[in-house]
Amino acid sequence: MSDTAKGAEWARRRTFAIISHPDAGKTTLTENILLAAGAIRLAGQVRARGQNRRTQSDWMKIERERGISVSASVMTFEYGGLLFNLLDTPGHEDFSEDTYRTLTAADSAIMVLDAAKGVEPRTLKLVEVCRLRDIPILTFINKMDREAMDPSELIDDIQDKLALDAAPMQWPSGSGNRFKGVADLKTGQFIRYERPGEDDDPEKASERLALSNEALASIMGAEEAEELTEGVELAREVCVDFNAQSYREGHLTPVYFGSALRQFGVRELLDALVEIAPGPEAQPAIGGPKAELEPSDKEVAGFVFKIQANMDPNHRDRVAFMRLCSGTFRRGMKLKTDAGKTMTVSNPILFFAQDREIADTAYAGDVIGIPNHGVLRVGDTLSESGKWQVAGIPNFAPELLRRARLKDPLKAKHLKKALESLAEEGVTQLFRMQVGGDFLVGAVGALQIDVMAERVAAEYGIEVTFEPAPYDTARWIAGPRDKLEAFVDRHKSAIAEDIDGALVFMAKSAWEVNYSQEKFPDITFLKAKERR
Ligand code: G4P
Repeated sequence: MSDTAKGAEWARRRTFAIISHPDAGKTTLTENILLAAGAIRLAGQVRARGQNRRTQSDWMKIERERGISVSASVMTFEYGGLLFNLLDTPGHEDFSEDTYRTLTAADSAIMVLDAAKGVEPRTLKLVEVCRLRDIPILTFINKMDREAMDPSELIDDIQDKLALDAAPMQWPSGSGNRFKGVADLKTGQFIRYERPGEDDDPEKASERLALSNEALASIMGAEEAEELTEGVELAREVCVDFNAQSYREGHLTPVYFGSALRQFGVRELLDALVEIAPGPEAQPAIGGPKAELEPSDKEVAGFVFKIQANMDPNHRDRVAFMRLCSGTFRRGMKLKTDAGKTMTVSNPILFFAQDREIADTAYAGDVIGIPNHGVLRVGDTLSESGKWQVAGIPNFAPELLRRARLKDPLKAKHLKKALESLAEEGVTQLFRMQVGGDFLVGAVGALQIDVMAERVAAEYGIEVTFEPAPYDTARWIAGPRDKLEAFVDRHKSAIAEDIDGALVFMAKSAWEVNYSQEKFPDITFLKAKERR
C-alpha cells in the first residue's frame, strides 16, 4: 500500500458484488455474509426480498408501494477493520443491463457456484463482463452439504469454461451427508463442519483441527481421512498456486468451499476478502489534467452506474447511484456533470443493511444515491470541475429486440420522447432504423421490456405494444470510414442508430454477424459500447 493510502478513509473501502447463476445461493450467501459481519441480526431479511423479487408483479408492486426500491441496491457493513459496500446485482427474472453495469462500479466480485452444477450459463456471461475491466473474482463453491461434483472436476470446470486459473485455497472432505469440512491449504488446518442446530449462534466459529491422521480419525473414518490427505496432496502438486498479483489482474480466482445455508465457510470467505480483495483503484478518465482519477485525488468525482426511477407516475423522482472515484464528498456539495449541468447534492443517500441514512461524507469506493428529476443519466460523470469523464461505462448489446408499435400513429412524437427519456435513464436501449424510422427497443432481460411498456403507458399515457423485431442480434460497428460506408451501403435496411447517434448493425442471427465479419474483415462488431 502506498504512503498516501495509509490510514486514508478510502483505503478502508472494499466495494464488491456477488455474481451467480440463479439458485446457486447468492441471496443466501448475501444474508449470511451480513449475519457473519454483524450487519443484520436475524436470518430472513434479505431472503424475503429475494423471494419477492422472483415474481415480476410483486417486484413492480414493491416498487410502487415504496416509491423507490433502494434498500437492496447497496449494503454497507464493517468487518475486519474495513468498510464493505456490497452492490446488489439482480439475478432472477429481473436480470438486466443494471446487473452488468453494477459490475462497473465494483472493485471485486465473489462468484458463487452450485457445487453440484459448476459453471452455469449466467455465470459465464457475468464473468465475461467482469473481464471487460479485469475485475478480480473470488470463487465460493456453495451447497457442499449436498451431493457435489468432485472438487478437482469443479476446479477444471472453472478453468475450462471461464479461462481463469483456479487456485484452491481449501480442499473439501466429502459432500452431502458425508461432508466433514475443508482443509485450509495455507494453514494446514482442518475446519470441521457440523450441521448447525436451530439455536446455534451464527457467529460460532467452526472447530479447527490439525490436518493429521490422528486428529482426523476422531471425526471421520480412516478411508475418508486418507482420501482427504490424497486430495490435499493432489491440490498442492497439480493445481495452480495462489498468486495475489494474478488474482488482482483478473487472471486467477482463489476457490473456497462451503455452505451458505449452513453458515459454513462464510467467515473464511469474509476473511479472504479482508486479506486479498482490492480497494478502490485509479479509474481511467478523460477531460482532466491527467489520464486517471486516483482515489487519493482531492477533487470529488464519480460516475452514475444505475438509475432507479420512482414508479409513481405523479413523481418523476429518480435516484442516481454514483460510485465515487476520488475526493471526499460532503453533503451540500456542488457538482457538475460532464455535460455541464450543475447540481447541489443536498440530500444524498448512503445505504445500510437495514436503513438508509443521509450521507454526510463519502469516499472513493463508496456509493451514494442522488435524488434528482431526470437530470442524471447512466454513464454521467459528476465532478467539482465538471471536466472529467470516466471511461469504460459500457452499453451492452441487447439480447432481446422489440419493435414499438403505436395504437395511435399521431402520437409518434410523444413516443419518441418517452422512449428516449427511458433510454437515457438506462431502462432499455433505443435504436432507430435509418430506413423507415422504426423504433427498436433493446434489453438484456425480458423484465426490462415489461418495465418499459408499463412506464410508457403510466407516465406518458401512450398505448404501445412491443412486438418481436425482425432482428435478433445488435452490434455496434466501427472501422475505417470508407469501409464503414461500404458496409452501411450494402446493409442499408439493417442499419440503426442508438440514442447517441452511433451506428448499429441489426442482424437476424449471431451467424449473420459472423458471416458479415468474414465478408468485411475491416469492420469491428462490438458487443459493448463505451460512452464517450
Ligand atoms: P440465488 O439468490 O442465487 O437465486 O439463490 P438463493 O440464495 O435464493 O438459493 C436458492 C436455493 O438454494 C434456496 O432453496 C436456498 O435455500 C438453497 N441454498 C442456498 N445455499 C445453500 C446451501 O449451502 N445448501 C443447501 N442445501 N441449499 C442452499 P429454495 O428451496 O429455492 O428456497 P427456500 O425455500 O429454501 O427459501
